[in-house]
Amino acid sequence: MTETFQISPAQAEVYETLFVPALFGQWAPLVVEAAALSPGKRVLDVACGTGVVARTAAARVGPGGTVVGVDLNQAMLDVAARVAPDLTWLQGDVAALPFPDGSFDAVLCQSSLMFFPDRAAAVAQMARVTAPDGRVVVQTYAPLDQQPGYGPFVDVVARHAGDDARTLLGAYWSAGDAGELRRLAEGAGLRVLGVDSPTGVARFPSVASVVDTEVRATPLGDRLSEESLDRITADAEAALGRFRTGRGDVELPLCARVLVAQRREE
Ligand SMILES: C[S@@+](CC[C@H](N)C(=O)[O-])C[C@H]1O[C@@H](n2cnc3c(N)ncnc32)[C@H](O)[C@@H]1O
Repeated sequence: MTETFQISPAQAEVYETLFVPALFGQWAPLVVEAAALSPGKRVLDVACGTGVVARTAAARVGPGGTVVGVDLNQAMLDVAARVAPDLTWLQGDVAALPFPDGSFDAVLCQSSLMFFPDRAAAVAQMARVTAPDGRVVVQTYAPLDQQPGYGPFVDVVARHAGDDARTLLGAYWSAGDAGELRRLAEGAGLRVLGVDSPTGVARFPSVASVVDTEVRATPLGDRLSEESLDRITADAEAALGRFRTGRGDVELPLCARVLVAQRREE
């Protein structure tokens, strides 16, 4: 595993209280909508983290449905189970999903594909556990050169923290090529229904909190001195100034990809 997901309990709590409201929560309704869920369906949230997609899906499938979240990281699952104790949370690797073939009507994977060492094998596993006619929905982000806010921000961080930082922070933007997403789905035997490019926004109360959320709260933050973090904040103030709103907060545009695919009938 990459070091990115050796997450401590404290970091998992920060993920739920800072990252989910600022970044990840907004995609969950789109991902669930793309899965065309209805009451009673069986849903798997792959790499569920603290479970925002699973919770959103649970509201759609109702008490007659089933929602399972699987993630490699136990600290994430502990937070997920605290927030939604009624859903099922399992530790597992996407490389070998611990379910029989065709177990779910929908398999959803939000903001995680880019961290899987073997993406083709991961999508093949998602296809395997999807029932015939069921849907696979995978959300990622467009490449950094198509991100008008995060592109300049990652440049600032890399300038102070080195290219290693670009690799760590750059991972998020490495699985957003629409053609590549299609090829992954087709390679897993899925029929592609579409690849959407919704634009969202990452809201922060200040530029300093962008640095807190995106750098300080990640494993990279543990490696940097307070002086380095201060210099990053000062340069980010200049780079992100144009995204400051009239209210004084910061809204970074965020371009996502949503792959929607279907398992063929047997
Ligand atoms: C950015 S988080 C996204 C979490 C969640 N889907 C969300 O939208 O909030 C990425 C998640 O992928 C998980 N992950 C990374 N590699 C994994 C793997 N090989 N198998 C299962 N989960 C993995 C991490 O533990 C982490 O919870």
